[in-house]
Amino acid sequence: MAHALWPLFDLRLRTDRLELRLPTDDELAMLCLIAMEGIHDPGEMPFGYPWTKVPSPRFEREFAQFHWGLRARWQPNDWNLALMVVADGRPIGSQDIGARDLAVLRTVGTGSWLGRPFQGQGFGKEMRHAVLAMAFEHLGAEVAETDALLDNAASAGVSRAVGYRENGLGRLAPQGRARDTQRFRLTAAEWRDRPHPTVAVEGLERCLELFGVPA
Ligand SMILES: CC(C)(COP(=O)(O)OP(=O)(O)OC[C@H]1O[C@@H](n2cnc3c(N)ncnc32)[C@H](O)[C@@H]1OP(=O)(O)O)[C@@H](O)C(=O)NCCC(=O)NCCS
Repeated sequence: MAHALWPLFDLRLRTDRLELRLPTDDELAMLCLIAMEGIHDPGEMPFGYPWTKVPSPRFEREFAQFHWGLRARWQPNDWNLALMVVADGRPIGSQDIGARDLAVLRTVGTGSWLGRPFQGQGFGKEMRHAVLAMAFEHLGAEVAETDALLDNAASAGVSRAVGYRENGLGRLAPQGRARDTQRFRLTAAEWRDRPHPTVAVEGLERCLELFGVPA
């Protein structure tokens, strides 16, 4: 049955190997377990906010609160969609996409993570392509931006492989110490010029108003 209150629950992005969708609360618990099993080397911190260092049971609580908070704070002119990434019927990670004033700025930003067993198999590229296809082909976006801490070769690898160009440096201090980031930028025209996988987008029509895009 369609979700009348929150049509984003009916949104599906499908690639060859992946399905991206909003997690239900039960699926959020499964996704949280994947995150708890490990996303990165314990000595590293690839994220701007060190959420993977939070001890249990605060970790589980804050993980769920983060996802609920995105939903609670959602505004058509300021939103972030954190999709669960599913392969072979089970959650493997998360791919988010967000925008402020999308109808005017035509710009989206992205972030992502995969459980360690699922990294290095091209899923990172495939899930980024999925949200870019939605943004560029269906939401009228003209620019996609992202960034990665300078030592995050895998994240930069995804951005470069998908066609982003370097766009200057930034700074983050996830653990109280300033670290440089590499910013990346990709235009819709650049994305269209390159080969990319087919992405099926389902259930979008009723979400357009939520994304701040005229239907
Ligand atoms: C970042 C992340 C989502 C990338 O997904 P992934 O599935 O591992 O990446 P892919 O297998 O799709 O690889 C994408 C590209 O990066 C390259 N790459 C992947 N891991 C790499 C590494 N450790 N070092 C160098 N290059 C790497 C791949 O070769 C590929 O490039 P190619 O197509 O030119 O060969 C995943 O590694 C991850 O979750 N890392 C920990 C969390 C994180 O860093 N999140 C991002 C925060 S900004």
